[in-house]
Amino acid sequence: MRLPSRLILAATSTIVYLSSTAALNITIKQDVPLAPAKLPAPYAAAQCDEIVEHFGRLGRTTVWNLVEKVHMEGDTFEPEGIVRIGDDRYFLSAGEYTSPTVKYGNGIIINGTDRTAGSGFAHMIVFDGKGKRIADATLTERDAIEYHNGGIDYDGEFIWATIAQYRPNATATLMRIDPRTLEPTVILHVADHKGGVVHDTRTDKFVMLNWGSRNATTWDSRRKPAPYPAFTTFPNNVRNPSYYVDYQDCKFLGHPKQFDHRSTMICSGVASLSPTVAIGGVALVDMETMIPVAEVPITMTSDLGAPVTQNPMEVAIVGGRLRFYFMPDQHNSTLYVYEAEPNSPFEYGA
Ligand SMILES: *[C@@H]1O[C@H](CO)[C@@H](O)[C@H](O)[C@H]1NC(C)=O
Ligand SMILES: *[C@@H]1O[C@H](CO)[C@@H](O)[C@H](O)[C@H]1NC(C)=O
Ligand SMILES: *[C@@H]1O[C@H](CO)[C@@H](O)[C@H](O)[C@H]1NC(C)=O
Ligand SMILES: *[C@@H]1O[C@H](CO)[C@@H](O)[C@H](O)[C@H]1NC(C)=O
Ligand SMILES: *[C@@H]1O[C@H](CO)[C@@H](O)[C@H](O)[C@H]1NC(C)=O
Repeated sequence: MRLPSRLILAATSTIVYLSSTAALNITIKQDVPLAPAKLPAPYAAAQCDEIVEHFGRLGRTTVWNLVEKVHMEGDTFEPEGIVRIGDDRYFLSAGEYTSPTVKYGNGIIINGTDRTAGSGFAHMIVFDGKGKRIADATLTERDAIEYHNGGIDYDGEFIWATIAQYRPNATATLMRIDPRTLEPTVILHVADHKGGVVHDTRTDKFVMLNWGSRNATTWDSRRKPAPYPAFTTFPNNVRNPSYYVDYQDCKFLGHPKQFDHRSTMICSGVASLSPTVAIGGVALVDMETMIPVAEVPITMTSDLGAPVTQNPMEVAIVGGRLRFYFMPDQHNSTLYVYEAEPNSPFEYGA
């Protein structure tokens, strides 16, 4: 597969979808390497069977111990996805919104969607383990209509991201980002909003989730994408049968023994069931069918009152315990690190 080595100008007569080479704008805050020289394995995939085993012991009465709270320096805009690369680097995808989208109202749909494009920038921000900012890159051009950088995945070599219009049923660009330079490479264009992507490194398939994670589209990388900005079409669009939460950020786990070696990802998310009821949860999800094979509600909220599973999520086993990393709040964010108490009491419930 031949790929452009840098972002390309994706303009049809008037629409700028994404960006140009010049739009990669990096502000460096600390003169240190962005990522470890030897890129480590992704935590989730390296600990697949162990994570699945720990997940199988979680329940509604699991005690979640807050083991670390890291304040992230500077404006984090709307954090969307996070990957931890080694013990001292967090990469955060975030969306900066310079003018809001506006709903057409009265159920009006124009060109398949229900609101204006708004405007903004897709960011990738790098922090050290203490939340000190190392670099902030914008990956999109001013006036580009795709600027929403969703849930991300790291495969040991690249960070994968979908930069989309910030409205349902619109368009998105799948790209990979080199964690050592933050240089993005455009892979393909999709005629739908995509709010996150997961890379199955064993099959080399990419699962992209659309608005509210209602549908999953799989790109088998053995299939050549259409030349950008033409849209690649996909034979399979799988409806997500679970309405328990909308997944926000997912990581590839692997092909766990316990699930007959099926392609599995770990996802977190939220659902607003009414103006006053929001629920959060984490799930192990079959990447081919979107069927959740295990799911657990998460009820913790941030100090500012947001469900912790609202946006970025990362996972690892540390010291024999299952750890989740959540960053729910916008602009002035705190990373909440929770560990599942292995000896949590079991209760039958009401
Ligand atoms: C690059 O980003 C910085 C910080 O966000 C901003 O001040 C500057 O105007 C940007 N430069 C360009 C050429 O967009
Ligand atoms: C709808 O799509 C057409 C064709 O691309 C375009 O000319 C028109 O401006 C779009 N309308 C809106 C409101 O975006
Ligand atoms: C998405 O938009 C297309 C037109 O652009 C329309 O045909 C299709 O029905 C829309 N799909 C949904 C789920 O709204
Ligand atoms: C999901 O995909 C199905 C086809 O498999 C399509 O009919 C439906 O409109 C899609 N829904 C959304 C919300 O994209
Ligand atoms: C950000 O939040 C911290 C607490 O987490 C608070 O001390 C600080 O004043 C806040 N900064 C801004 C600019 O709101």
